[in-house]
Amino acid sequence: MVDVDKVLDEAGLTNPHVREYVKEWAAVTTPERIEVVSAADDARLVAEALESGEFKPAGEGLYYSQSYYKDTARSEERTIVATNDPADKGIYNNWRPASEMKPKLIELMTGASAGKTMYVIPYLMSPKGSPLAEFAAGVEITDNRSVVMQMIRMARVGAEYINDLGDSFVRAVHVTGDLPNLGQGTPDDKRYFVTVADERTILHFGSSYGGNALLGKIAHGLRQGSYDGWKNGFLVEQFMLLGITDKQTGEKYNICGGFPSASGKTNLAMTLAPDALGDRYYVEFYGDDIAWLWVGEDGKLYGMNPENGVFGVAKDTNEATNPTALDSIQPGSGAIFTNVAYNVKTQEVWWEGKTKNPPEDLDGWHDWKGEAIADRTPEQAGEPWAHPNSRFTTTMGNVPNVAKDYEDPKGVEIHGIIFGGRTRDREPLIRAIDDVAEGVYDGLTLGAEATFAADGLDGQLRYDPMSMRPFMSYPEADYAAHWLEVIGRASEKPVFAHVNWFQRDAEDGHFLWPGYRENLRALLWLMQYKNGQVEGRRTAVGVLPTEEELNLEGLDLPQEDLDRILTIDVDRWRQEMGFREEHLNQFEGLPEEIWEAHRRVAKALDDES
Ligand code: GTP
Ligand code: MN
Ligand code: MN
Repeated sequence: MVDVDKVLDEAGLTNPHVREYVKEWAAVTTPERIEVVSAADDARLVAEALESGEFKPAGEGLYYSQSYYKDTARSEERTIVATNDPADKGIYNNWRPASEMKPKLIELMTGASAGKTMYVIPYLMSPKGSPLAEFAAGVEITDNRSVVMQMIRMARVGAEYINDLGDSFVRAVHVTGDLPNLGQGTPDDKRYFVTVADERTILHFGSSYGGNALLGKIAHGLRQGSYDGWKNGFLVEQFMLLGITDKQTGEKYNICGGFPSASGKTNLAMTLAPDALGDRYYVEFYGDDIAWLWVGEDGKLYGMNPENGVFGVAKDTNEATNPTALDSIQPGSGAIFTNVAYNVKTQEVWWEGKTKNPPEDLDGWHDWKGEAIADRTPEQAGEPWAHPNSRFTTTMGNVPNVAKDYEDPKGVEIHGIIFGGRTRDREPLIRAIDDVAEGVYDGLTLGAEATFAADGLDGQLRYDPMSMRPFMSYPEADYAAHWLEVIGRASEKPVFAHVNWFQRDAEDGHFLWPGYRENLRALLWLMQYKNGQVEGRRTAVGVLPTEEELNLEGLDLPQEDLDRILTIDVDRWRQEMGFREEHLNQFEGLPEEIWEAHRRVAKALDDES
C-alpha cells in the first residue's frame, strides 16, 4: 500500500478536499505508486517515456507516440452525461442516471491500475485570475504517463493552481484499462466515458487517446464547463478564437466560432495570412478549440480560451495550408505527434498532405499502426501512412502569432460569432446575420458532413448544433434559451455569420474556394459589414458579400465558382427548411424566438422568386 499522505505532503498538495479525493480513488484503482506532477516535471517524464519506449524521438525536443490501433478517436456512443435529475436528458447528451453509471465505473476501475503509477495532475482550464477560474480548476488522476505530458502541454498544471480552492475543483478520473481486451466497437464494448455533471466528476475508462483521456480538455473544458455555464450564466463552446487588427485604423475585432471537429477551427485560428492582403492586417491567435464566453461587469461580451495548448489534426498540415502550425512544432518546441507515420532510422514523422507525395525511400518508415511500409502487400499500397485523425500537441507559447494578451484574465471582447462546417452544396462562402435569435437559430441548425474525429461517422451528413453535438451536456431547448439569455444580456451584440470553405463542384468535386489562408478575406468582409463600410446583398438566409465588396486581389477564381459561392440555391434551401424543422422538432420546449426565426427564414425563401 502506498503511503498517500506522505506522497501528497512531499508534493506540497495541501488542499484537504483534493487529498481526500486522491485517497478515495487510489483505494479503488490500487496503483503501485502515486506521483503528483507539475509542469516542472516534464523533462523527467519525457526522459522516462523515451527510456520505456512510450515516446520515440522525432527530432530535437520532438516526440512520436502511438495510441492503441483501436483507440484513435473519440467514441460518441460510449460517451455519457449522467446526472441525478432526469430532466437533464437531452437528445445528444446520452443521459443516464448518475446512480446507474457511478457503480458501473467504480466496478470497471477497481484494481485496474494495479502495478502502475497513478499520476495526480492538478490543473486550471483558464488563465489564473479569470472571472471563471472557480469553474476551471480540476484534478485529473491517470495511470498513463503520455496523458500527463499531453496535459502539461494543454493546460496549466501544478498544485499551486488548486491548493487554495477548497472543494471547488472537478474530480477527473482516468483509467486506461487493458486496451487489447476492451472490445472496442463490438457489442461487448467495455469502455465508458462518463461526466457526472451535477457532481462535477468525470470517470473515463478504456482509452488513452487524447479526446477521451485528456480530461481537462473535452470532458471538463466542454461537457462539464457547459453544464456549469448553464447553471451559472456563461457559455462554453467548441469555438476557435482569433483577433484581427486593421493597422491603418488601429481597430481590432475578435471573432470566435464553431465548426464541427476536423472542419477547420485550428486551421482558421492559426493560419490566416495578412501578408497576402498587403500587410494591412495583423491576425492573432487566441484559441483553436474551446471558448468560454461571458458578459462582463461592463455589460460587454467577453471570451477566453481555457486551454494552454493546441491539439491539432496533422493531416494536410503543410507550408501552404498552415505554416503557423509547422512553426509551432519545430525542433525544441516539445511537440508530441500521435499516430502519424514514423521512420525508425531517421526519426522523421510524416502524415498525408505533409508533402505532396510520401517519402520515396521507404527504408525505416512505419505506418501509424507500427507496420513497416516496405512490407505492405499490393492491396495495402493505397492505405494511409498516418491515421486521418493523427494529431500534434504543442503549447500556446510555441505559436508564433499567439496574442500578446492571451493569458490576460480579463479575456477579450467578442465582436463576431461564426458557424461553419463541411457542406458540399447550399452554403455560400459567408452570410452575415444581424438578428441575435436568427444567429442562434443558425448555430442550432449547423449541418455538416461528419469527419474522422469521431469513430465510424466519416462523411455522413448530420446536424451539429453550434458544433457541440458530441459535447452537449444538457437539453438542447435549454441550451437555446441559455444562449438567448446570455447574448441578450450583452450591451453590444456580436454580429453572427455562417461560413463555408468546403463547397464543391457537383461534377468533378473540386473545392470552389481555395480556403485555408484565404479565409481571412471572408472575415474582413464581415468586419466591414459590422462597421457599416459595406452593405452586402440581402437574401432570405442572411447578407452575402457582393463580388466587388469581397477582397479578391491576387486570387484567380473561375467566374463560375465565384458566382456559386456568392449566391444561394433557393430550391435547395427550401428543401433544407423541411429537414431543419424535423431536426428542431426533436427539442421539446424550444424557445418561441427560435421558431419565429425559422418561420421568418422559411417565409423569406418562399417569397424569393
Ligand atoms: P478538431 O480539432 O477535431 O475540433 O477540428 P478542427 O475544427 O480544428 O479542424 P482542423 O482545422 O484541424 O481541420 C481539419 C481538416 O480540415 C484538415 O484536414 C484540413 O486540411 C481541412 N481544412 C481546414 N481548413 C480548410 C479550408 O479552408 N479548406 C479546405 N478545403 N480544407 C480545410
Ligand atoms: Mn475539437
Ligand atoms: Mn482543432
